[in-house]
Amino acid sequence: MDTSHLSPTLRAVKVPPHPEWPVLNRAEIDQLKNRIKQWMQTRNAVLVAHYYVDAELQALAEETGGCVADSLEMARYGTQSDADVLIVCGVRFMGETAKILNPEKTVLMPDLQATCSLDEGCPPDEFATFCDQHPERTVVVYANTSAQVKARADWTVTSGIALEIVQHLHNQGEKLIWAPDKHLGRYVQHMTGADMLLWDGSCVVHEEFKGFALERLRRLHPDAAVLVHPESPQDIIEQADVVGSTSALIQAVQQMPNQQFIVATDDGIFWKMQQMAPGKTLLSAPTAGEGATCESCAHCPWMAMNALQNLENTLIEQRNIVQIDPAIREQAVVSIQRMLEFAANR
Ligand code: 13P
Ligand code: SF4
Repeated sequence: MDTSHLSPTLRAVKVPPHPEWPVLNRAEIDQLKNRIKQWMQTRNAVLVAHYYVDAELQALAEETGGCVADSLEMARYGTQSDADVLIVCGVRFMGETAKILNPEKTVLMPDLQATCSLDEGCPPDEFATFCDQHPERTVVVYANTSAQVKARADWTVTSGIALEIVQHLHNQGEKLIWAPDKHLGRYVQHMTGADMLLWDGSCVVHEEFKGFALERLRRLHPDAAVLVHPESPQDIIEQADVVGSTSALIQAVQQMPNQQFIVATDDGIFWKMQQMAPGKTLLSAPTAGEGATCESCAHCPWMAMNALQNLENTLIEQRNIVQIDPAIREQAVVSIQRMLEFAANR
């Protein structure tokens, strides 16, 4: 990759260990879920869950009429819900986006420490300095950023809509700053030909996929289709049959004729893939091998901070309320609304 356009700092983001939740048997899980359902009714609350969180949480969201979705749909869903309380099971930027778009609602999260290496790797002050150095450029930020970073942006995009929005801006002759994911940025740049200055951030989960190990696995399963989230490194993307958002990858499992799939994204997605295509075989893209640090091993340590246990406590105590400074919100909502309006009119 040409790094001449990368911001100067490659950041070391501190990755927490995966939390170890107490193991519950089926009866205990069902009892806990029933208690949570009652509390949700009492609070007029709805669950907005990402595909990467614990399978029991995804199931609970569906059983209670909430949503299980990618980050674009999670943002949209909250604005259409008449619940008083949105409980976002995912990572902090998802809770912040829900609050920015729904300031009148209470937004709760099972754990407010559930962040994201992309968000952590893009401190608002340093990002503002980077933008100030290129005032002629339109600022496009990935949704996996803080409210302050979104407040500095012209556009927010998710992986589900990044290509279309950047193509649109490129067609209008705009030059861009892109932050924070350098892999997604490089992919979008390659696909659209847009002039983009890339911030030097990455996802610790997708960074773990290894190109040479994927090549070996493909040789063992020559009929398997390779599905890749675009936060993955270039040598993974280059081996993909489909590159897309979490929703696009789930759709591919349903629609493609293949019986086997190698999946390069967080393995929390397997629950929904298996539900939508029960007869198909799913293999996780390899994270092991030379050079692997296995900080995350195909499961996001921050997504793993969401569990039935802390969801119940959050609801009972009405704690972990997502708060956004009103001045920041006023600015950040503009770049998110632009994305949602673009999505509605495409
Ligand atoms: P999606 O928008 O594709 O769900 O991706 C969110 C994310 O954090 C992937 O790591
Ligand atoms: Fe962030 Fe990666 Fe976790 Fe997605 S999987 S929330 S990009 S650290």
